[in-house]
Amino acid sequence: MTFTAQIGNVVFQDIIYNSSGPRCTTLEELRALGESESSAIMMKSCSPEPRDGNPEPRYKEVELGSINSIGLANHGYKKYIEYAAELKEQFPEKPVVVSIVGFCPEDFVNLVTAFQNEPNVDVLEVNLSCPNVVGKPQIAYDFETSDELLAKIFQIPGDKPIGLKLPPYFDPVHTAMMAEVLKKYPISFITCINSVGNTLIIDPEAEAPLIAPKWWLGGLGGDYVKPVALANVRMFYKLLWDRMMIIGCGGIKSWVDVFEHLLAGASLVQLGTVLGKEDTACFARIQQEFYEYMEKKWYTDAKQIIGQLKEL
Ligand SMILES: Cc1cc2nc3c(=O)[nH]c(=O)nc-3n(C[C@H](O)[C@H](O)[C@H](O)COP(=O)(O)O)c2cc1C
Repeated sequence: MTFTAQIGNVVFQDIIYNSSGPRCTTLEELRALGESESSAIMMKSCSPEPRDGNPEPRYKEVELGSINSIGLANHGYKKYIEYAAELKEQFPEKPVVVSIVGFCPEDFVNLVTAFQNEPNVDVLEVNLSCPNVVGKPQIAYDFETSDELLAKIFQIPGDKPIGLKLPPYFDPVHTAMMAEVLKKYPISFITCINSVGNTLIIDPEAEAPLIAPKWWLGGLGGDYVKPVALANVRMFYKLLWDRMMIIGCGGIKSWVDVFEHLLAGASLVQLGTVLGKEDTACFARIQQEFYEYMEKKWYTDAKQIIGQLKEL
């Protein structure tokens, strides 16, 4: 049994793949994703120029998840165009997804234009939600700026599906305000959620924070964030189910988390922290667990589950 999915004309042979961030920056890491059971190869968010990111220590795994303040360290978009060519040659069946980030509207326009013209890239995810750049707020928390930026992005010619990586919203009023903005554009999908930004984890032994940059605050992932992710998937699904796909991301480390994201309204799911912790073996493990449960429950199609949360 396999559950397939489609974003625009791009077919995903399964519904589980990696999120942008952990283990997808170098060509070697991207090749490992190609060789794994991940249903796509998602690349690290790339910027116009290469970036070293924030000073170390900037990433720590803890029992319930991870905290990071990488600060968008990446090789620059031109390298990811080169990587996409190599990946397409080696893994022609796997969708290659780029994640685009910028520091001003022109950056986004230039990168979307470049990737729309890049034959080896299948899908574009525009990251409006990085919490880890000093002095730069998460764009998607500013509805007016997001609206202006989307107006520019959706004027660019090209037929590749474009989606957005959103931050978590913590108040349904904000979710509804963002949904109103999103409705204005032909967005193929939204990925909910990016890390829960600006959190502090303290090591009580060391009497110190775990990471150094940005006043020791970082983006949280893993078990901690699953309920926040599910709430965002559900709220956006209720508001936008007939207009765009929801991709679930946040706290997925086993079949049950995949199942819950689908029930909430996700059509595909992405793995972040668990990929950092377990490496690419997590895809085969979670897929197998998930399909065993599907068989037990007689589910044969993801559509029987997507959004089917039984409301009280
Ligand atoms: C080390 C690390 C780096 C990340 N870098 C990015 C990034 O470059 N772009 C992005 O959209 N999300 C980034 N994220 C966020 C993840 O893609 C994901 O949205 C978040 O961690 C929640 O998923 P999880 O609970 O499975 O980790 C990063 C996360 C981690 C842990």
